[in-house]
Amino acid sequence: MKPFQSDLEAIRSRARTKMEDGAVTGAYKADRARVIEVLNEVLATEIVCVLRYKNHYYMARGIDSQPVAAEFLQHANEEQGHADLVAQRITQLGGRPNLNPAGLATRSHAEYKEGDTLEEMIKEDLVAERVAIETYSEIVRWLGDDDVTTRRMIEGILAMEEEHADDLANLLEQIKR
Ligand SMILES: [Fe+2]
Ligand SMILES: [Fe+2]
Repeated sequence: MKPFQSDLEAIRSRARTKMEDGAVTGAYKADRARVIEVLNEVLATEIVCVLRYKNHYYMARGIDSQPVAAEFLQHANEEQGHADLVAQRITQLGGRPNLNPAGLATRSHAEYKEGDTLEEMIKEDLVAERVAIETYSEIVRWLGDDDVTTRRMIEGILAMEEEHADDLANLLEQIKR
């Protein structure tokens, strides 16, 4: 194995000449434009989820509504946190976070569905979480070792969507009793 040192000059000069690329270096193996596109779809998904959970939070009514509404609000805030992480990563990759409300629902993997009862709301949220879990898992596999930072971010978000799905499944059980 040749000493790491010998490559250092080349790495440094590459870093200097490509300064405008920010966090993206020659070691970046993914298709950057495609990653940005995919991340903008994740961003849309997270925003649609914020809006759906907020709607459910404000519309939650009935005797069982208090703990459920609290859960909706917590999820809304966590989805907003995901949206912020994703938008930040898009800019690190030299892209533009697409926050244009036009086409938001089409870019999103998950749907915006309101629901009339607590049970319907929880079911819609559970469906949306399961969609996100599937598409984010696919993204993780697709990124592999080509963009480790983005993959780790998506893995972290994915873990939380799994928690959300679990919370919702438990709420559904409790509400049916
Ligand atoms: Fe999320
Ligand atoms: Fe979620």
